Amino acid sequence: DAAERGGYRHFMLKEIHQQPAVVAETLEGRLADHEVLEASFGPRAATLFPQVQRVQIIACGTSYHAGLVARYWFEEHAGLPCDVEVASEYRYRRHVVAPGTLFVAISQSGETADTLAALREARTLGYLATMAICNVPESSLVRESDLVLMTRAGPEIGVASTKAFTTQLVALLLLVIALGRHQQLNADDAADMVNALRSLPSALEQALELDGPVARLAELLVERQHALFLGRGLHYPVALEGALKLKEISYIHAEAYPAGELKHGPLALVDAEMPVVAIAPRDDLVEKLKSNLQEVRARGGTLMVFADSDVRYAEDDDTRVLAVPHCHPLIAPVVFTVPLQLLAYHVAVLRGTDVDQPRNLAKSVTVE
Ligand code: G6P
Repeated sequence: DAAERGGYRHFMLKEIHQQPAVVAETLEGRLADHEVLEASFGPRAATLFPQVQRVQIIACGTSYHAGLVARYWFEEHAGLPCDVEVASEYRYRRHVVAPGTLFVAISQSGETADTLAALREARTLGYLATMAICNVPESSLVRESDLVLMTRAGPEIGVASTKAFTTQLVALLLLVIALGRHQQLNADDAADMVNALRSLPSALEQALELDGPVARLAELLVERQHALFLGRGLHYPVALEGALKLKEISYIHAEAYPAGELKHGPLALVDAEMPVVAIAPRDDLVEKLKSNLQEVRARGGTLMVFADSDVRYAEDDDTRVLAVPHCHPLIAPVVFTVPLQLLAYHVAVLRGTDVDQPRNLAKSVTVE
């Protein structure tokens, strides 16, 4: 066991640190100079991709959060309408399937019962095709899908998913670029996105250097019963994933909200006992986010702001700022994920929980 952990105290920490390498592995051989190679998705991609007019994503848990991030990318960059639903809901309701819809199931294991059942249901519903984004080549999900894009995260042992999530985001970006080229995405913008992807492994290396500062922030959470995570735009699902990591392994009740919804309910919970973790990338919404966070400060809440190093955010007694190295905006959700993983990890270690095997949870839920 110790040898397999490769010198790390837990598999989760090892897997967090493997992210630059497995992201590079997931990109390997799939990029041309300025394009994504369509053949990466299998021999049928060349005929199917030009026909795709919509995307339906289904998944569970962390994989679902990857789908939620991707929805923003599909609509922003590819101009394709995209819906995302948890598999356990999808499988039990009626669907209206628009012509030309690609069904995409995302799963680390490829054996999650609800995800497989949703795929099997989808195969009877008239989708253009089904695609698996998956980490296990011999899994049922891969065998039963028309198109496949493997994440190459390698075996993930920690129950709380880390490197599977970030490689899923990479796989989804490859799909956004490939499908986008048949839609509104022009060659220059595709080339810019490909370059951003190429810069991701080194951006993740830099994010891992935040380990020490994040460990110090973790001390502020360790005694708390609750935490609120805030993000806007595609960093809202990143906040959801940050909150999920914290509750899975530290057993602190954590909830994520789109920052603009704060005033519609959760603000009532904010007092000196409620820490708020906010994600502040450098984007068009950052000024709005700052005014949302003012609302938190005015009520005495402790703020932890994970801010792009280009965003000036004033630190004081109640506001701690973690400067996340600036990166291309396309890859920011992937980069911001890393310090949130580390935060959950350090809080869990301080609380003395079983980080790799949290109570009541399974790595792969193969029965309903
Ligand atoms: C379980 C795991 C989660 C995972 C989810 C979906 O709940 O504990 O970490 O995100 O299943 O798993 P999948 O293998 O389908 O991605």
